[in-house]
Amino acid sequence: MTELNFKRHRRLRSSVHMRDLVRETTLSTNDLIYPIFVVEGEGIRREVSSMPGVYHVSLDNLDQEIKELEALGIHAVLLFGIPKDKDEVGTQAYCENGIVQQALGQIKRNFPDMLTIADTCLCEYTSHGHCGVIHNGDVENDQSLQLIVDAAVSQARAGADIIAPSNMMDGFVAAIRKGLDQAGYENTPVMSYAVKYASAFYGPFREAAESAPQFGDRKTYQMDPANRLEALREAASDVDEGADFLIVKPALSYMDIIRDVRERHDVPVVAYNVSGEYSMVKAAALNNWIDEQQVVLEKLTSMKRAGANLIITYHAKDVAKWLQN
Ligand code: PBG
Repeated sequence: MTELNFKRHRRLRSSVHMRDLVRETTLSTNDLIYPIFVVEGEGIRREVSSMPGVYHVSLDNLDQEIKELEALGIHAVLLFGIPKDKDEVGTQAYCENGIVQQALGQIKRNFPDMLTIADTCLCEYTSHGHCGVIHNGDVENDQSLQLIVDAAVSQARAGADIIAPSNMMDGFVAAIRKGLDQAGYENTPVMSYAVKYASAFYGPFREAAESAPQFGDRKTYQMDPANRLEALREAASDVDEGADFLIVKPALSYMDIIRDVRERHDVPVVAYNVSGEYSMVKAAALNNWIDEQQVVLEKLTSMKRAGANLIITYHAKDVAKWLQN
């Protein structure tokens, strides 16, 4: 027999404990951020039809939700407000007793240890569903910046621990940092949606947040999925402007970008496992086409392997339960 020369990689896969010993990436509940949709009204806990297991909750049901998360060991929530009244300039995004401001205040009062992250955008609050003010059929950058700063400062004042701007206007990190500092919130970090693609995977979220654009699309401010170098420029300018965290969004189709951002910057990188990624898995699982637990743990572990430190995910409660067992 001719001599074969090869490596025996299977030696390190020979048993459960051997595999545990050489595992390179682990998932923990400390990595998870859970998104919550808060609505105006009373007694509401309504499932989002395109996102089984995800609910709209009113303020009177919010404490219950936070209690459940704390019991599961989840200590960070990303809050989205869905107001009753929307207008051209998204007034409810920066008004002192807006729905998200009330939610932030309530959580801080009743659950001071829960980290509250405020999504800072206008699209849930504008009648046209765009992420800023409209001028000649497009979103006007610098005017929108002023409103986004007002929203960020009002959220910090209401009790937000972290500000997470997602509207993709140029300069939003610089503007928000300055606004927060001037208002006395120099210790409030900015978690920037630095790299946010114009993605079809946000479909279910837009149903959940009632924020689909009423005309056109978001391609003049969100990024082209075909671009990588542009993502690196976006991340670099946000770091220069003072971002404390960088979000890459969506996650599953953009693992290469997560890796690139991780290697170039030394701030925590956050993967946003978005609504469409969630709903696809849920739909397949409800049909018994896939093993939900295995698939979810595999995809989140892969995001961490790609370089994410933290993951924003609608699967967070399920994952925390699975990790407890
Ligand atoms: C607000 C915002 C969006 C998402 C998070 N913040 C929607 C959008 O840009 O259309 C999407 C999240 C998801 O799909 O889970 N701008």
